[in-house]
Parts: sequence; structure tokens; C-alpha cells
Amino acid sequence: MKAIWIDSLGGPEVMQVIDMPIPEPGRKEVRIKVESVGLNYSDIMIREGRYLQRTELPQVLGRELAGVVDAVGPEVTRVQPGQRVYATSASGALAEYCIAHQGAVFPLPDAMTSDLAVALIVQGLTALHCLDHHGRLNAGETVLIHAAAGGVGTLAIQMARHFGAGKIIGTASSEAKLAVIRELGAEAVNYTEPDWADQVLALTGGRGADLILESVGGEVFWTSYRRLLAFAGRIVIFGIASTEVNQLHTNEILRRNKTIIGYFLGEYFEKARDHVVRDTARVLEMVLSGAVKPIIDTPFSLENAVDAFNHMQNRKNIGKVIIKP
Ligand SMILES: NC(=O)c1ccc[n+]([C@@H]2O[C@H](COP(=O)([O-])OP(=O)(O)OC[C@H]3O[C@@H](n4cnc5c(N)ncnc54)[C@H](OP(=O)(O)O)[C@@H]3O)[C@@H](O)[C@H]2O)c1
Repeated sequence: MKAIWIDSLGGPEVMQVIDMPIPEPGRKEVRIKVESVGLNYSDIMIREGRYLQRTELPQVLGRELAGVVDAVGPEVTRVQPGQRVYATSASGALAEYCIAHQGAVFPLPDAMTSDLAVALIVQGLTALHCLDHHGRLNAGETVLIHAAAGGVGTLAIQMARHFGAGKIIGTASSEAKLAVIRELGAEAVNYTEPDWADQVLALTGGRGADLILESVGGEVFWTSYRRLLAFAGRIVIFGIASTEVNQLHTNEILRRNKTIIGYFLGEYFEKARDHVVRDTARVLEMVLSGAVKPIIDTPFSLENAVDAFNHMQNRKNIGKVIIKP
């Protein structure tokens, strides 16, 4: 089978398309014939060795996939060959076949195609959890969403609208992205412009946002926390796309009367499987009712996986990037 292999950390040059044997499932493992792979910003960080968890080498890249169960180990009870599933895996998704532990394999409802599953599950759960469980958005509140034309961002705008947010402001780095944010019903601000924070403040009548979804880090975090968050507001930190990690002293947190919230979906898959199943159904419901329309960028083939990574890293993607073996 074909797979995207790395044996060292680095840029696109470390990614190789190789031929390798189809892997055999272990006792509690499932082999999936991969139809769609979801590219996440974390895949770039893993390739470069700057993710939250250490990158194991060598490895086949890719952590989110959907397809059809092809074979199962003798102790697998949750799924059977022929069943359509979504799965997460520590690595190995960017291949024609992938092995996943049965605990990380979720049967797909009929209404969910493989493309929709990989466009919706990581990004949809992240958007939902950041707005709802973690961000505790109330109807009528003002929400500021950074990188709002991306996979998580485009879903978060639509969910915030569905939950009755008063005003939604999305930031992004190009005119094409700002146009998408406006089409989705939010105000749009280019946060690469020097006066971007003044523009956000003007849109909120000088008050700031009640809830901020922050995934960029560096200056965007500082400005958001210090200037753009309203009194007693909440900021959810769920990414560091700029690679600039901020350090904060507890005396500043105390003085500012603002709540800083962390969010990491990976731990939900490990510790709260029931939550994942229930909330995936909730995300799907929003799609089936028409409240949320996932935006999928042009799909890439496995052979062109490098282009897919570059597309995302060069900030070109609008919505979710998917790769189809
Ligand atoms: N905590 C979790 O469990 C969790 C789960 C999923 C995703 N995430 C995080 O959520 C964010 C969105 O994820 P996604 O997969 O949907 O990606 P995405 O938003 O489609 O792509 C990342 C976006 O980050 C923005 N960005 C800002 N500064 C950047 C920089 N220096 N280099 C590259 N991009 C930069 C770009 O948008 P502009 O061009 O508009 O700036 C880019 O399109 C990522 O930071 C990701 O790591 C976290």
C-alpha cells in the first residue's frame, strides 16, 4: 500500500510517499480501508516535532480518518468488517489502510459520508466544546473567533450564530478569507493590519468580547486577553498556530478579572468517549438541520499530501483540508 512516511523531523522535504506492506491488526485493533483523511494543524506540528506530545520516528503521518472496516483482531467487539467508521490514531492515517485501536473507532451514521466525518469531527467537536462546554457562551453575547476562515473557525462562526450569539467577529489574514467570514454572517477583521485591535474594539462599542476563541498565540493572544476581552470575559486557548507560546504570571490573571480556559480534544478521546459520541451526534444534528454547513477545501490525493500540508501551513486553506487515498 502507499503511505506518507517520515523518518526525521522537519519541513515538507521529510515527507516521502512509500510502498509498504498492508499492516495486520493486533488483538484489539481494527484495520480500516481509508477513504478520507482529515488534515489538522497538529499534523504540521507533529512533522516538525513541536506538538504537545513527542513525535515518534519513523512513522506514517496522519491521525484522523474515515473509511470501511477491512479486518479486525480476535478481541474486537465494537465493530465488524464492512462497517463504515471514523477513527483517530496516534499515526498512520495517511495511507491506503490504517490500524486503529477499537476504542478509537466510531461507527458512522448513514447520513455521514467519510468526507463529512473528517471535516466535522475534530473541528466540529473543537468548535462546539470551545463555545459551549468550555466557553459557556450565552445568547446575546459577543464572540471573537480568531483564524475564523479555517476548519474550526468556519464551524465556530456558524455554531455561535446557532447558539444565539449577539455579535460574532472573525479574524483572518486575507481578503478572500474575510469574504467567507462575512458570508457566514460574522463581522470580519484582518488581524495582520496594525490597527486590527482598534477595529475589533470599534465593532464592540469599546467594550470588547465576552468570549474569545484563541488559536494563534503570540501578539494575538496578548492583545486579545489584555485589550479585547470584556470585563469578566472568557478566553479559550486551543491552539498556537504562530508557534509563539505566551507566559503569564498569576498576579496578572488575578488583577484582570478575566477567565482563561484551556481546551484539548485529545484528552476527550482518551477519557470521555461518551462525550465524544454524544457531541458528535450533536454536531451532526446541526448539519442535518441546516444550521451548520461544513466547508471543505479542494481535496488532495495521497501522492499530493505535501501540497496539502503546504496549503495549510501557507495559510491558504478555507475550511477543512482533506486527503483522499
Ligand atoms: N485544542 C485542540 O484540541 C484542537 C483541536 C483542533 C484544532 N486545534 C487548533 O485549532 C486551530 C485551527 O485548527 P484547524 O485544523 O481548523 O486549522 P485552520 O484554522 O484551518 O488553519 C490554521 C490557521 O491558523 C492561522 N494562522 C495564524 N497564524 C499562523 C501562522 N503563523 N502560520 C500558519 N497559520 C497561522 C491561519 O489562518 P489566517 O491565515 O486567517 O491567519 C491558518 O489558516 C489550530 O491552531 C489547531 O492547532 C486545537
